[in-house]
Amino acid sequence: MRNYLKLDATMRCDVLIIGAGGAALRCAAEILEQKPNANVVALTKVSHPQKSHTSTAQGGLAAVDPKDPLDSTLFHMFDTWKGSDCTADQNVVKKICESAWEQILWLENRGMHFSRDPQGRLSKRTFGGHTRNFGEASVHRAVFEADRTGKGIMDTGWGETLKRGITFINQCLAVELLIKNGACSGCIVFRQKEGTFVKILAKATIFASGGSGQVFQVTTNCRQNTGDGLALVLQSGLPVMDPEAVQFHPTGIVGPGILASETLRSVGGILRNAAFEPFMVNYAPKMKELAPRDLVARAIESEIREGRGVMNPDHNIPHVWIDLRHLPAEVHEKQIPEVSSFFKRYVNLDPKTDLCPVRPSNHYHMGGIPTNEYGEVEDASQNIIEGLYAIGECAAASFHGFNRLGTNSILELITMGKLVADRVVAAIEKGPSHNPESDGKRFIERFSGYLQAGKKDSLGLIRSSLRRIMTENVSVFRTEKGIEEAIQILSELKVRAENTALAGRSLAMNQELVQRWELDNLLAVSMVICQAALDRKESRGAHFRDDYPDRKDEYNHHTLISMIDFGITESGRREVDMSIFKAGGEQHEKFAIIERKY
Ligand code: FUM
Repeated sequence: MRNYLKLDATMRCDVLIIGAGGAALRCAAEILEQKPNANVVALTKVSHPQKSHTSTAQGGLAAVDPKDPLDSTLFHMFDTWKGSDCTADQNVVKKICESAWEQILWLENRGMHFSRDPQGRLSKRTFGGHTRNFGEASVHRAVFEADRTGKGIMDTGWGETLKRGITFINQCLAVELLIKNGACSGCIVFRQKEGTFVKILAKATIFASGGSGQVFQVTTNCRQNTGDGLALVLQSGLPVMDPEAVQFHPTGIVGPGILASETLRSVGGILRNAAFEPFMVNYAPKMKELAPRDLVARAIESEIREGRGVMNPDHNIPHVWIDLRHLPAEVHEKQIPEVSSFFKRYVNLDPKTDLCPVRPSNHYHMGGIPTNEYGEVEDASQNIIEGLYAIGECAAASFHGFNRLGTNSILELITMGKLVADRVVAAIEKGPSHNPESDGKRFIERFSGYLQAGKKDSLGLIRSSLRRIMTENVSVFRTEKGIEEAIQILSELKVRAENTALAGRSLAMNQELVQRWELDNLLAVSMVICQAALDRKESRGAHFRDDYPDRKDEYNHHTLISMIDFGITESGRREVDMSIFKAGGEQHEKFAIIERKY
C-alpha cells in the first residue's frame, strides 16, 4: 500500500486541550487566570465550542451549601459512594464534594445566572439518590439555571476563556497521541476544513473529549460523542477503566431519545405503566421516582419486559408514561420550560394536559481514561504518563464508580477542571521544556488505509448494525450469550469497515472520511465495553447481568482493559480507594461495602 499522506505543519503551545466543552473551558479558564501568559489551545471536532455536549445538560450541579442546616458534605459523599454501588474512589469523592460549593461561587462570580428563590437565595432541587442523614429522605442539593444549566456553564466558560486569550481550533480531530518513554508531548491533529495533519506539541495535553453515547441507537448524547478519546488511548496501548459501566437515563423522550430531565421527577412527576399505576413503589419503596438512575431505568425496562408497557404507535417503541399534569402551571413554566417544549416539538404533546411517553436512553459513560485524583492519566501498571491528563466524561478518576448520581457529572467536570488546572500550572512552571517527541507516524497508515480501501459497502449500515447490537444485547440488561454475540458481530463489522471504499478521496471537508474514523472509534469502544461486561460476572450499578443478578465481593475492583489488537484485550484491575472508610473517622462505617437499598 502506498502511503501518500504527510505531516503538514508543527505547532507548539503550553497546554493542549482535546475538547472544548464544560470541563475543557473550566480548566482553561483556571490555567489562564493563574498564568495569564500561558499559550492554551483547545480543539473541538464541532464547528463551535458552544455546540459541545455540555450545552445540553439540563438539571443542575450537586453542591452542599455550607450554610444549609439540612445538608452536609458528608451526606453528599455517602450518597455518591452508595450510588456508585461501592465502586467510586473515596479520595476522589472527598475531594470533589469538599470543593463543590467553591465551584458554584466561581461560576456565580463570573456571571452564571443561577435560578433563585423568592428570597434571592440560590434555588435548589433534589435528584435521585441525593439524601440527608444517610438515606433518611430526599434532599434539595442541586443548584441550576432553569432546565438549561449546561448552557449557562458553557456561556460562562466561553466568556472567561475568550477574555483571557485561549485559542480554539474548530472542526479538527485528535488522531494520534505522541507518547514516548512514558511521557506525552502532544498529538497529531487532522484539520477537517483544510484537510491537513498538524503536529501540536504541548507541555501538557488534557483529554476533555466527552462521552461515547453514539455506541447506542437511542441516546441523549450529541452526534459528536463517538468515544474518540477512549479509542485514542486504546490505540496508544493505554487502558480504559470500567468501560462496562454505562448509564441509561430512565427518561428519554420516546423516539428521539432526547433527555427528559430527572428534574421532572424532582418536581413531582410520576412514572406510570399502561394501567396508569405508579409502579416505582414496587422497586424502590422509600425513594420511588427519586431512586438512583440505574434502579429507575431497570424498573421501567422491567415493566416493559413484563408486558406492562405501552406501545407507541408513531415510533413502534414500547414505553411508560411520565405524568406531569398535576403540577402547578408555575412549575411547568418556570422550572421545566425547556423539557416541556421538547415534548411539544418532538411528540406533539403538552405535559400540562397529556401523559408523556418515556423510555431509558443511553446517557453517560462512567468508565473512561483512568486517572488518579489529580486527573493524571495512568497506564495499565498505574504509572503516571507524564504530561497527560483527562477530565470530564472521557475520564474515570473515579467519582461515579458504577452508577453516577444525577447532577454529579457537571459538578465533577467543573471541579476536576479546576484541580487539573492547578496541577498543570505547577507542572509547566517547573519544567522548561516539552517532553521527548515521538515520531507520530501511525496516523499515516491509518488514514491511508481509509482512503485506499476498495470494497463496496455502506459505512452507514455498518454503524447502524453496531448500534443495534449494542442496544439489543449490551444495554440495561445483559447476558453472557448476548454479549458474546455482540463481540462476534463487532469483529465482523470491523472487517467490513476496513474494506469499505469511501465515495470521495479528498482530505478537505470529507465527511465520509470523518465518519470512517469515528466508526473505528465506536468499534474499539464497543469492543472493550463488551469484553469488560463479559468478564464481570456479577451485577453492580448500571452493569446488570441477568445471569448473575447479585453484586459479588470478588469484583470489588475497577476493570482496566487494554486492546492489543481489535478484539484481543488484556484485562487488569485497580483497587477501589476506600480511604474514608480506612481513616476510621466519624461515620466511617457508612463508607464500608454497604447494602444498596432505596
Ligand atoms: O436529568 C438530568 O437533568 C440530567 C442530569 C445529569 O445527567 O446529571
